[in-house]
Amino acid sequence: MYSMSRVLMVSSEATPFAKTGGLADVTGALPAALQNLGHEVAVVMPRYRQIHWDSTESAFDNMVVYAGSTPYRVDIRTLVQNGVRFYFVEAPYFFDREGLYNWRHHDYWDNHKRFAVLSLAALGVAQTVFECDVLHCHDWQAGLTPVYKADQQYSNPKFADVKTVMTIHNLGYQGRFHKREFAELGLNWGWFTGDKLEYYGDVNFLKGGIITSDWVTTVSPTYAKEIQTPEGGFGLDGVLRSRGDALTGILNGVDYEEWCPSTDKYIEANYSVEDLSGKVACKKALLEEFKLPADHLERPLIGIVSRFAEQKGFDLIAGIANFIEENDVQIVILGSGDWRYEKIFQDWQRWLPKKVGVWIGYNNALAHRIEAGSDIFLMPSAYEPCGLNQIYSLRYGTVPVVRATGGLDDTIHEDTGFKFSTYSIGALYDALRRAAGAYQNRDSWRERMRRGMAEDYSWDASARQYSALYSKLLGAV
Ligand code: ADP
Ligand code: GLC
Repeated sequence: MYSMSRVLMVSSEATPFAKTGGLADVTGALPAALQNLGHEVAVVMPRYRQIHWDSTESAFDNMVVYAGSTPYRVDIRTLVQNGVRFYFVEAPYFFDREGLYNWRHHDYWDNHKRFAVLSLAALGVAQTVFECDVLHCHDWQAGLTPVYKADQQYSNPKFADVKTVMTIHNLGYQGRFHKREFAELGLNWGWFTGDKLEYYGDVNFLKGGIITSDWVTTVSPTYAKEIQTPEGGFGLDGVLRSRGDALTGILNGVDYEEWCPSTDKYIEANYSVEDLSGKVACKKALLEEFKLPADHLERPLIGIVSRFAEQKGFDLIAGIANFIEENDVQIVILGSGDWRYEKIFQDWQRWLPKKVGVWIGYNNALAHRIEAGSDIFLMPSAYEPCGLNQIYSLRYGTVPVVRATGGLDDTIHEDTGFKFSTYSIGALYDALRRAAGAYQNRDSWRERMRRGMAEDYSWDASARQYSALYSKLLGAV
């Protein structure tokens, strides 16, 4: 049995309001799953340009938050989405911009202030309109929340019993800023030491969150181990090891209301584990959408949906053009990010126009159609805290080919997908060859699809683990 707690999540993104990656999927779905277990959960996030002011109402006007002697005036707007209350920090000078964190590949120069203000406003919300038992902070953008909470200057009697949880979704992004920026955070220099926020002469927001929170989680059990090693620790492995007895991995769930082939509104034909016939129609429509020949549907179609970032293994993918050329396969790629990869895939498309389809940009509906229409989903990440797309792929009967790292290793088994370990083009090549070979045996392939489709990664199981953690921290168990 779990006792009910009031949880305030602090995040820089959440679906359906603002998303650059899986973090938004998590903060968009986990709160509702926790509420189903009886908790009361709210989320604080910035009001970015794309979130319409008119759709929100006032929760608290003229909240003044102080970063040191500098006052920032913010309004708190609110709405209820899917039964969960969201509080938006309205500060147009910080958040009414084109991008969330950057624009045209350049980080905003004042990100340290933007997300310090998010944390301060979150504490303001916790003091005024949503008193809570747990402050649950996500990624570096919320890393200063537990720091400010612990700081004498900001501490408040109301916070005496409030527990803090810091969830790391990606250790590759730490919120690292120049020392001169530290002076603008309103923290005294006592915080700028090696055992606190200082990191090789800079200030590191995530390090602050890891050190000051009551518990640290990350998004898969394997990643929880990897980040405590020099290879996976991005320079924070020592800090994470020092928190080792308050650090756990809780695998993300996925939202099967949004990602389910039998109800998906974006795809050509619905299908299910009992009746797979619609999947062929999805494949044909997908090939046509990419203007690829759809005359020979027995050849495997490989799909990729991803941020174009080194993390996702694009250095390996860039090395498998020969595999595409030499084998009877086709590939469709959706993504955006690093210009290097955008250019490489556009070159591929010109070189192999009948085999390669590329769509540069962000397109949720197309992401669904790739999940449904492909036979193989490729995700050879260098590291992967959890990864959601491979889990969506399982449900869509699209067999994942993944590198055995982090959440990919935890969610894909040899009987539902294909895994390789060494981060090399050769190892990826070999895994793809195994998958393309196995595809020829249609019956056993369909069995593999069915096993994947039957796996269950719904949020309920993850939410129960967070719930148990809150109870433990609050001394309720
Ligand atoms: P990460 O958060 O590291 O990018 P995840 O696998 O956890 O990786 O989550 C990625 C999420 O973003 C998924 O919901 C995926 O469908 C979506 N996504 C990524 N790139 C695109 C894109 N170009 N268009 C549409 N959706 C995308
Ligand atoms: C990060 C990670 C990804 C994870 C997501 C949600 O963006 O890169 O692996 O699935 O956060 O936790």
